[in-house]
Amino acid sequence: MITKILSRDNMYPPIELYNTILRQDIYNYWKDYIQEWINNKIWLYIHIPFCKTKCDFCHCNSFASNVREIKTYINNLENEVSFFSPIFTNRKISNIYFWGGTPSILENEELDNFLNFVYSKFNFVDNVPFCFEAMPETLTESKIDILQKYWVSRLSLWIQTLDENVLKNINRIQDLENLIKIVKYIKQKIKYLNVDLVCWLEWETIDSFKYWLEIVLDMNPDIIHVYRFNPSETTNFSKVWKMYSNNNKSIREQMYQYAVNRIKETWRKKLKNDDYWFSLDARNISIVDRIENASSNLGIWFSARSNIFWKLSYVNSAVIEKWKSLDSYIGYYYSQNDEKNRYVLQNFIDGISLKKYKDLFSSDFIKDYSKSLKFLIDNYWKDSIIINNDEIKINFEKLTNTILNSVFFWKDILEKLKFNIFT
Ligand SMILES: C[S@@+](CC[C@H](N)C(=O)[O-])C[C@H]1O[C@@H](n2cnc3c(N)ncnc32)[C@H](O)[C@@H]1O
Ligand code: SF4
Repeated sequence: MITKILSRDNMYPPIELYNTILRQDIYNYWKDYIQEWINNKIWLYIHIPFCKTKCDFCHCNSFASNVREIKTYINNLENEVSFFSPIFTNRKISNIYFWGGTPSILENEELDNFLNFVYSKFNFVDNVPFCFEAMPETLTESKIDILQKYWVSRLSLWIQTLDENVLKNINRIQDLENLIKIVKYIKQKIKYLNVDLVCWLEWETIDSFKYWLEIVLDMNPDIIHVYRFNPSETTNFSKVWKMYSNNNKSIREQMYQYAVNRIKETWRKKLKNDDYWFSLDARNISIVDRIENASSNLGIWFSARSNIFWKLSYVNSAVIEKWKSLDSYIGYYYSQNDEKNRYVLQNFIDGISLKKYKDLFSSDFIKDYSKSLKFLIDNYWKDSIIINNDEIKINFEKLTNTILNSVFFWKDILEKLKFNIFT
């Protein structure tokens, strides 16, 4: 159990440390926070966990669902928004992010009503960045018109692959003709278009991957994310005991390296805290804000993580139970050190600004982490740390997240985990 948790690299602190927390307590924490922290940004995250089909490769907390379930969920979502939104009456929300599952699965009228409802309940900054994620097969021109009406500024289109056989095999519906039509329309209506691809989906060959990558490049999206397939235990792929061999890993890596080089040839650059694009503005501002500014976010609802800077991280407890038990929460109270550790872990990837760290925490990064930095320098120097003026970053080609976790954060977290799991 411990080894499993330790190898996890994307969740700090681990969910096993979360304890039950009452909705009213969360409400009170937010209220205190709003009174105390004037400048820290707050963004709104809405989670729609439903999909048309459950794709075999998918590691997300998502379900193939029916119209009735979606209706019930939206009703509950609205109740939740109504409960929390009065706290934010005098604050402007800095950006909006709809993710899933598949937010674009909502029918036109449902989507229109829900977006209207959200805008009536919160105040937003002018020209609020609004990132909405969509599966191509659920989009129509009229749905895109609705998204434009509510000022969606960045549409993330999840393509994954275009190969018909691969699509069938991974249980995903996607029609190329419709996709090309939709992409053209999005480009007329929405400011930024992002596209996601996954390297090594079962039955994809290097040749088919290369071929379809060219078709995607021809669509000329502003941003292209390329993910390495992660055969985690939450995927249907792994649940039926399919083996992920070293050969598959090597093919995945070849696809990834090929895609990155090919994308670079199109003059897109790797930009800070996101992937390959032309413009900094096209980045996913919600994620960037959380990483770079430790901004807080109100997440609603199933499996949506919320963060109140330096106070609390919480999530609906349905994440570890069934999705229908949505009325309880689990949370983790952040000490000052926890918040710093989380910030450092996330910013090490693309660089910690020493000045930003000082502004946020009123303390000095080098002093706070002197022991860990010394250990790293003594053991992995040159290969692992890159210092650039005001910025320090880690070379992840040389140093894995597991080493980094154990050097920087894990001693106290490990103690707490041992306590939680074995007592
Ligand atoms: C929450 S998923 C949403 C996907 C979206 N509903 C769609 O239509 O595909 C977000 C992204 O995670 C990536 N993803 C999902 N499962 C993955 C896995 N097992 N390994 C790597 N990336 C994965 C996919 O690229 C996907 O676009
Ligand atoms: S990849 Fe997207 S559409 Fe497929 S199951 Fe995952 S969240 Fe749903």
